[in-house]
Amino acid sequence: MISESNFLKEYDIQKLEEDISIVDFDCGDADLNDFIKNEVNLYRNQFLAMPYVVTKKNKADEIFAYFTLANDKISVTDFPSNSQFNKFKKANFNREKYLRSYPSVKIGRLAISKDLQGQGIGTYLLKFIKMFFVADNKTGCRFITLDAYRGAVEFYKRNGFKFLQAEDDAPTQLMYFDLMNVNI
Ligand SMILES: CC(C)(COP(=O)(O)OP(=O)(O)OC[C@H]1O[C@@H](n2cnc3c(N)ncnc32)[C@H](O)[C@@H]1OP(=O)(O)O)[C@@H](O)C(=O)NCCC(=O)NCCS
Repeated sequence: MISESNFLKEYDIQKLEEDISIVDFDCGDADLNDFIKNEVNLYRNQFLAMPYVVTKKNKADEIFAYFTLANDKISVTDFPSNSQFNKFKKANFNREKYLRSYPSVKIGRLAISKDLQGQGIGTYLLKFIKMFFVADNKTGCRFITLDAYRGAVEFYKRNGFKFLQAEDDAPTQLMYFDLMNVNI
């Protein structure tokens, strides 16, 4: 395990601001590897997602983890029925805050280099993203959403994420985190 303070001493988390070619990144998942090597600049340049990378301090050309963020919303189309959406509203809001949709940010992708997995970095990055929106909530953003890979569901549950719909056999599961649950 790497402590938060050692992580911060050794690594930087920064926006991927320029077109850079990333040759070496392996998180063990071919799609996530391909995205950061070949597709990330297209998404960023068209404002479709903002990529953030973890690099060693003073060594910006090698990345050790990345995630992408994009605006999202939770609305009725995320639920199998109106009544499921109403249940969600009832569980989280007073009646006067029953809206047609709720502003969210989506973690499009999250990947840690194979060699560094299981050391707490994924957990730390989720904490960072939570604080990023709670401490500087520029536009109003209540939830974090993501499509969790089946193998990563437990990891997200441990970090406070819940299913938006009942779990099924799909390869990914829509999960959310309520930013009101962050203590500052
Ligand atoms: C899933 C991933 C982001 C987790 O990041 P990480 O830095 O390895 O996770 P952490 O070290 O913070 O793990 C925290 C806890 O979750 C558990 N965990 C991590 N990945 C897990 C997985 N795939 N399945 C089950 N549990 C997992 C760890 O055992 C740890 O539990 P513990 O504290 O009781 O020991 C990372 O392993 C990864 O990049 N995997 C490959 C790509 C991927 O699946 N991305 C998710 C896309 S939705």
